Amino acid sequence: MILAIETSCDDTCAAVVTADGEVRSNVISSQGIHDAYGGVVPEIASRHHLERCTAVVDDALRRAGVTLDGIERIAVTQGPGLVGALLVGLCHAKALAAVRGLPLTPVDHLQGHVAANFLRIGDREPFAPPFLCLIASGGHTFLAHVADHDGFTVLGRTLDDAAGEAFDKGARLLGLPFPGGPHLQRAAQDGDPGAFAFPTAAKVAGLDLSFSGLKTALLYAVRDLGEEEARRRHADLAASYQHAIVETLAVRVERALRETGATRLAIGGGVAANGPLRERLSALGVAVNVPPVELCTDNAAMIAAAALHRPGLPVGAHLALDAYPTGTL
Ligand code: KG4
Ligand code: ZN
Repeated sequence: MILAIETSCDDTCAAVVTADGEVRSNVISSQGIHDAYGGVVPEIASRHHLERCTAVVDDALRRAGVTLDGIERIAVTQGPGLVGALLVGLCHAKALAAVRGLPLTPVDHLQGHVAANFLRIGDREPFAPPFLCLIASGGHTFLAHVADHDGFTVLGRTLDDAAGEAFDKGARLLGLPFPGGPHLQRAAQDGDPGAFAFPTAAKVAGLDLSFSGLKTALLYAVRDLGEEEARRRHADLAASYQHAIVETLAVRVERALRETGATRLAIGGGVAANGPLRERLSALGVAVNVPPVELCTDNAAMIAAAALHRPGLPVGAHLALDAYPTGTL
């Protein structure tokens, strides 16, 4: 059994996963405090991780019905993310591994999002490579070819904002709380996705994506409508904006499926929790794996999943590991 810890952003996460990918526990402690600032405050995130990490790990063990005696390996997110936040989880993991004499596997957060698809959900078999994978989160958005359990090749990525960032910034323009994605999805429920023709960067060739023009288009639409009319058309604005993000992603996925001949698609990252995106991609006519929402947003079970297929570093060798803040892409 693997005990995994993930603290790359504002969620303190720990999970216990068995060697064949069964999730025994998946504890996620969210730091609601950042909502008041409209975004994650790195220093506050680190302090909260420090306060909660021990309790979250204990909770994950208790819910899995094991003690540290039953754990054979520790896995932890090494990067990318907020470096102070990452260091809390990494130091905690190193200390546990050193004290218990256990091997430790450092995991890349993005590989974790991809690996969420390797987990066994109920009696559903893990989704095995090869497949095309769309990862869309608050910090990253890319399309990758996943040839095996050990890595991936990026086919296209966002040239500016991540899809989750586009959701968050759009939600902010519409006066919705942070994080904006789920709020915007709810606000869009009774709106007309065709009411406003927001850009989808469909003309940008290749598999890269862009969201900055879309955000500006929403800003101008709200400004041109005026405060009162924008309030009256709130649901239409939200639905049209969401539709444009979903189309931007879906058009690239369709293009990538055509170009690579892939017949299997997996998705991950916080934005994969979005209902309309899940529906749109599920209708593409290929086998689509959509992990449950709690495995799409940040969690430690996906970090354990990535560690399942790679060796742990022996005691001592892992003490020199350092967190890395920016991407491996
Ligand atoms: O993967 P994640 O939990 O954290 C990062 O690694 O970034 O992703 C968080 C992002 C946020 O931008 C949030 O607004 C977005 O995922 N998100 C959603 C939904 N749920 C979360 N976006 C659209 N619709 C949702 N239902
Ligand atoms: Zn993430």
